[in-house]
Amino acid sequence: MKKRIGVLLSGRGSNFEALAESVAAGRIPNAEISIVISNREGAPGIERAESRGIGTRVIPSKGLERETYDRQVAAVLEEHKIDLICLAGYMRLLSPYFVAKFPNRILNIHPSLLPSFPGLESQRQALEYGVKVAGCTVHFVDENLDAGPIILQSVVPVKDDDTEESLNARILKEEHRIYSEAVRIVLEGKYKIEGRRVLRTN
Ligand code: GRF
Repeated sequence: MKKRIGVLLSGRGSNFEALAESVAAGRIPNAEISIVISNREGAPGIERAESRGIGTRVIPSKGLERETYDRQVAAVLEEHKIDLICLAGYMRLLSPYFVAKFPNRILNIHPSLLPSFPGLESQRQALEYGVKVAGCTVHFVDENLDAGPIILQSVVPVKDDDTEESLNARILKEEHRIYSEAVRIVLEGKYKIEGRRVLRTN
């Protein structure tokens, strides 16, 4: 049976699209994206999903207490019998309720080499700090922001003439590549978690 992926997003949806492409191309085998949920109305990622014929739900989060909202999302994910949840530009911190409900079954992509530059505008933080390499991280999600055991990272150079936009673009290309690879590793179960370390197994 195909593994069922649920994607949570809030905006553009390029990482969702990269995952969908990888599923279609067989780079993530025996899987399907069963539902895409946005907490924001008008998220371009929802349109992208619709044009691929993937089921979508918009569940507005505005004004709702964190756990109350997360219970609604969890119910939809359960309804769709989701095996793995991929956060893809999902601009909400998850409640302990949600994290406990799906242990080691939630992944996130972040545009920095964690634990450097968590939170928003990581690429700008990297430029302002003056680091010479930047990158992205796929990690399991816990209730802390941009924390949780790291599955894959990719490094890109920071060039002297980089702007936020040029650095974003270089990192985003790597995000799209390693997110699919991490999803494949996790769905195939070819890993074990020891403390904070995610180790590959065969
Ligand atoms: C990406 O940079 C991702 O790393 C971060 O939010 C951004 C989402 O972009 N978590 P997109 O919506 O996937 O295009």
